[in-house]
Amino acid sequence: MRARQLTHLTSGKYPISVSSVTTKLLRWYDCNRRELPWRAPPGGIVNPYHVWLSEIMLQQTTVSAVKPYFVNFLERWPSVEELSLAELDEILHAWQGLGYYSRARNLHKCAKEVMTKWSGKFPESEANLLSLPGVGPYTAAAVAAIGFGKDAVPVDVNIERVIARLYAIDKPLPSRKVDIKRFAKTLLPKQRTGDFAQALMDFGAIVCRRKKPRCSICLLKKECAGFKQGDPERLPFHPPKKIRPTRYGTVFWLECEDGSVLVQRREEMGLLGGMIEFPSSPWQDELLPVESVLLSYAPSDASWEKIEGTVKHVFSHFYLVLDIRKASILNKIPENSMWCKPADFNKLALPTLMKKVANHVTKNISSQES
Ligand code: ADE
Repeated sequence: MRARQLTHLTSGKYPISVSSVTTKLLRWYDCNRRELPWRAPPGGIVNPYHVWLSEIMLQQTTVSAVKPYFVNFLERWPSVEELSLAELDEILHAWQGLGYYSRARNLHKCAKEVMTKWSGKFPESEANLLSLPGVGPYTAAAVAAIGFGKDAVPVDVNIERVIARLYAIDKPLPSRKVDIKRFAKTLLPKQRTGDFAQALMDFGAIVCRRKKPRCSICLLKKECAGFKQGDPERLPFHPPKKIRPTRYGTVFWLECEDGSVLVQRREEMGLLGGMIEFPSSPWQDELLPVESVLLSYAPSDASWEKIEGTVKHVFSHFYLVLDIRKASILNKIPENSMWCKPADFNKLALPTLMKKVANHVTKNISSQES
């Protein structure tokens, strides 16, 4: 292990002293760490359940968005055992607004598996963690390092950026992933591997920011190959963004006499999997131009009236524009269908998109009435 402290790596022209970078980052972390609800206090005992739960929530989501969800989950399900005993619907409901709902389903599966296969204790090694539902290489490394102090480096976007700049790695993805992981591993301290991972994360978020990195106050200026090359902000290399296409659909808002609205559960797999929605036509590249074709997707033969305006939503890979048709019927048909009064929508696992639809309809109705 002594060798690690003495190692000097060279990437291009700029030698980097591993021990000095690692020590500086840990010292910086001790003074500047972010207080986050899933973090143990300095010197405190780490709870792997907290680490796992936060890391699943943080995939594709920002720290500030995750905080209230994390606090709420811990209040409701303080242990992995309690989470494993929850109903999936309760979890989906509590996950509303975080998006990527397959994470919530895997969260539940994983909690059950930790109880049945691992006697209620998360496994410690990266390899065993990887075998759990919803746990990929990043999360396995994060839980191994932060939860159990193992020699592992979780490479999230912040860590990737810090390492890419420090070593001036300008390769595109996916080939740079291997380099980044290799370089990051050489920086690992003998102890405090979890703090080290979190130090890199915080340093990336606070100093080595994606835009306008704060190089003037950076403690790694002397070592940073990206800084010495003169334009660290361009690293890591990003290919031009793909254009996000727009899809269109029509929602069918069907009310019955007692004011309930027809809802249904989406397929388990895929976008918004397992969540509740109002029935709609398929979401396609163009609005269905033929009325009879559009109405063939309606859940009932009724007199469908167009509601003014549209509901817009951004998914990671497309924009969605929905228009809404509304109709009323007397009885709750089709049979076996699910109906819910608007006052009870908050009890359903309605994704943000469907909440927007409900708000749009409610506003529209009240403006027609006033
Ligand atoms: N992003 C992902 N995991 C994180 C963590 N443990 N702390 C801060 N930001 C994170």
